[in-house]
Amino acid sequence: MNGPGDKAPKVYIETFGCQMNKLDSELLMTKLLDEGFIQGSSAGEADVILFNTCSVRKHAEERVYSRLGSISRIRRGRPWVVVGVVGCMAEKDRAGIFERVPQVDVVCGVRGHDSLPGLLHRAIAARRDIGNEPSGSTRLCAAGRDPGAPAIAAVYGVSRRPECRPSPFQAYVMAMTGCACKCAYCVVPALRGAEASRPVDEVLNEIRALARQGCVEVTLLGQNITAYGRSLGLKDGLADLFRKINDIDGLRRIRFVTSHPAFMTRRLLETIADLEKICPYIHAPAQSGSDRILARMGRGYTAKDYMELLESARCIIPGVEFASDFIVGFPGEDEADFERTVDLVRQARFLNSYIFKYSARPSTRAADWPDDVPLRRKEERNTRLLKEQATVSAEKHAALVGSEMEILLEGPSRRTPHLPTGRTRFNHIVFVEPVSQAGLAMGGRGRPGGLEDCGGRHPAESARPGQIVRVRIKHVTPLALYGEPVGG
Ligand code: SAH
Ligand code: SF4
Ligand code: F3S
Repeated sequence: MNGPGDKAPKVYIETFGCQMNKLDSELLMTKLLDEGFIQGSSAGEADVILFNTCSVRKHAEERVYSRLGSISRIRRGRPWVVVGVVGCMAEKDRAGIFERVPQVDVVCGVRGHDSLPGLLHRAIAARRDIGNEPSGSTRLCAAGRDPGAPAIAAVYGVSRRPECRPSPFQAYVMAMTGCACKCAYCVVPALRGAEASRPVDEVLNEIRALARQGCVEVTLLGQNITAYGRSLGLKDGLADLFRKINDIDGLRRIRFVTSHPAFMTRRLLETIADLEKICPYIHAPAQSGSDRILARMGRGYTAKDYMELLESARCIIPGVEFASDFIVGFPGEDEADFERTVDLVRQARFLNSYIFKYSARPSTRAADWPDDVPLRRKEERNTRLLKEQATVSAEKHAALVGSEMEILLEGPSRRTPHLPTGRTRFNHIVFVEPVSQAGLAMGGRGRPGGLEDCGGRHPAESARPGQIVRVRIKHVTPLALYGEPVGG
């Protein structure tokens, strides 16, 4: 066989990076299905393989380049396969990707995603012409444009298809694109462009359509979701959007990421407390506990401001949980700065923290400063902070043993396929262990339902992904809770 011939080409997307990339992959696939492509379930059977990439740290890019090293092997058996690099690294490195990996056919930056279907059609035709020469490349590139409203609508305004999502009952929704913050270390604004909020009605219509498809949980995405509405001239845009989403029938839970601590207002906190569907889990990265480093990062708050935010949020929203990101080894971070970060982690009592070793990114302000913390020291600080957070997480989890919590079932996890998992409103991960008499049978990707759908039977007998059930926590680790279902 010499290629897909006249059959519709099969596409497989491998995704790196953050939730935005996960959503972009879903929407790219949706758009490609609309254009006559079909969805492949692995790279091994695909005619078109796309790598949706991340550039936030050097390590993220190295992972992608190492995967691209497999192209020649893939082409040995299937010389017609088209390989595309999309997303943030495509935006950053552009045609430079062809220099490093000549076998790549298409490079399409995150701001040129609306042109991807056309590029792929051209690359498929060109590959047929190249014939069986596996190292030949068609070298088509789109990146570096300012997306503007029509391009944003073209990418994010597609009708969602449940089969393109990992789960039919949970969905990401892009509330805004780009970022207007200028954190000294961060390459994201240069890649994702200027901050632009999608109009309120567009977001609401998309969520209504998702709810009609059976989606019970949405997660609103924005690099700084707390600034939602600013580019539309709205004040309190996120709080007002929350109220409107909360009224959508069928929807059970609303999540949002990522919050910027300097943008959290009292009004927003009160709205979260007020609305039953908004999950009281706030991912508001602190990045550091040292005022000197926070100022150099350009974050716009001090450690004291941050701790006051946590305190008022905890007064206003019962049980609210916070999560944070930290960068260790930022240029100029000394032992005293780092100890302040350790103190903040001890005091803030985050549910979890994501800890990153500083990585200089081109075109950022910090890239001009000496990367003066040796890698060994960054690693030590990383390990130490992880340990501090693990202690806090373990204590917080231990305090929950014996309590009953409501979880949204998500299906079995990859690591423990025999145990269903779910999440509480506060974002604790819960593994559901079978009760002695009634094992918890997980159904397939069926239409979700609530406890009321159980037809009077014990929820443990009919629970399936998408349902909300109650569990009693039996034991815990620093990473997760383990519980068993209780009658409804
Ligand atoms: N918009 C979000 C997330 C941005 S990227 C926010 O502001 O919180 C996710 C995380 O990656 C950041 O919170 C930061 O902790 C980390 N990060 C970003 N740039 C980095 C860099 N150059 N080196 C190491 N970590 C970085
Ligand atoms: Fe990057 Fe800062 Fe914007 Fe987050 S808020 S994307 S860290 S510039
Ligand atoms: Fe990475 Fe782009 Fe997200 S750089 S973190 S995939 S916005």
